[in-house]
Amino acid sequence: MEPLLSPSEFVGLDNITHLCSGGEAPWLAGQSRIYNEFAALTSGGQATRAQLYERVESCRGRMSELWGVRAERIAFLPHAAEGINWLARGLRWHAGDNVVTTGIEFPSVGYAWQQLDAGVEVRRVPANRWVVGESALLGACDQRTRVLAVSQVSFLTGECLDVERLAAGLEGTDTLLAIDATHASGVVRVPAQCTDLCVSSAYKWMLATHGTAPCYVSERAETSVADSCFGWRNLETPLSGVAAPERLPLRPMPFKLEPGNPAVLSILFLGYALDVLLEIGMRSIENHARTLALTVNEGLQQLGLAVISPDGETQRSGNTCFLASDPAALRDHLATERILVWGDHPRIRVSTHLYNSSHDVDRLLGVLAANC
Ligand SMILES: Cc1ncc(COP(=O)(O)O)c(C=O)c1O
Repeated sequence: MEPLLSPSEFVGLDNITHLCSGGEAPWLAGQSRIYNEFAALTSGGQATRAQLYERVESCRGRMSELWGVRAERIAFLPHAAEGINWLARGLRWHAGDNVVTTGIEFPSVGYAWQQLDAGVEVRRVPANRWVVGESALLGACDQRTRVLAVSQVSFLTGECLDVERLAAGLEGTDTLLAIDATHASGVVRVPAQCTDLCVSSAYKWMLATHGTAPCYVSERAETSVADSCFGWRNLETPLSGVAAPERLPLRPMPFKLEPGNPAVLSILFLGYALDVLLEIGMRSIENHARTLALTVNEGLQQLGLAVISPDGETQRSGNTCFLASDPAALRDHLATERILVWGDHPRIRVSTHLYNSSHDVDRLLGVLAANC
């Protein structure tokens, strides 16, 4: 398979086999133009500030295309952790409530709840042979489940949960469905419209950088969560007004969740990256990444390595992971061969994205074969 986007469109990929977008994506060379445009606009004083904000709104529109939800339901948070924590902080909890998540979750999804009173139970559904699955998660929910919070794609194993199936299983209940789509958004389709909260970092599969995390919030979640953060941007306030009323009304979504300036430069970079992704199309990117992931999965198994990622069509993602006794040492060894993967205990994560090709997979498997 040839890349959908040439590696030459990125900075620093000459002679590098880059298989680690699940850690940090390579940088699109075209972002230099965006930086220069930002520099000119930000130096232009008050006259050009409105143009910067217009670019923020245009990025919000692109996010709405990517996720299939209305733009005004998407706020730009500083990082993905804030999305799940906003929910944990603002819901009105009662003793006996519970949260369902997985036993192998990313910390901000699995532990945003640790500030809650002891009366709230966190049910951590364990993985069975590294797979969690929708049935086990739904089976752990009951009438007192306030939130089902999971990553769409696991950072640890690459398992892709069927978010629509989770939503269907919760239909008619009061349980909110909160999704961290950081390892999904930009590589597999994200059905944000059937969630109550969907948040994603921007610096991995969406090919942008740190500082902003788009977050979709449903009307139901918005009305269930108490407002806890107030500033110039989310209050209806005349900045130069002399009157100082006791309270000021809140602006509606999306500004409601943006009490201060969002990270404008990061959002401009995200806007450009989304242009690139949307022009190629999520269907093609998903198909490309999953097909390469299957080749990686099968190749690793043939080498006798302990693959922990599912190989089913829809359970696959861009991440394929295998256990290693010393992941850091193996990762460093691969780096000396100019192959970049992500390796933290207990596994190596191989990420396949739109700029990867079969040649990249062959190189990886060749070096691993020589090492086995
Ligand atoms: C599932 C998941 N969520 C979020 C993040 C990063 O979070 P943040 O944007 O809060 O830094 C990661 C990083 O590895 C992740 O794997």
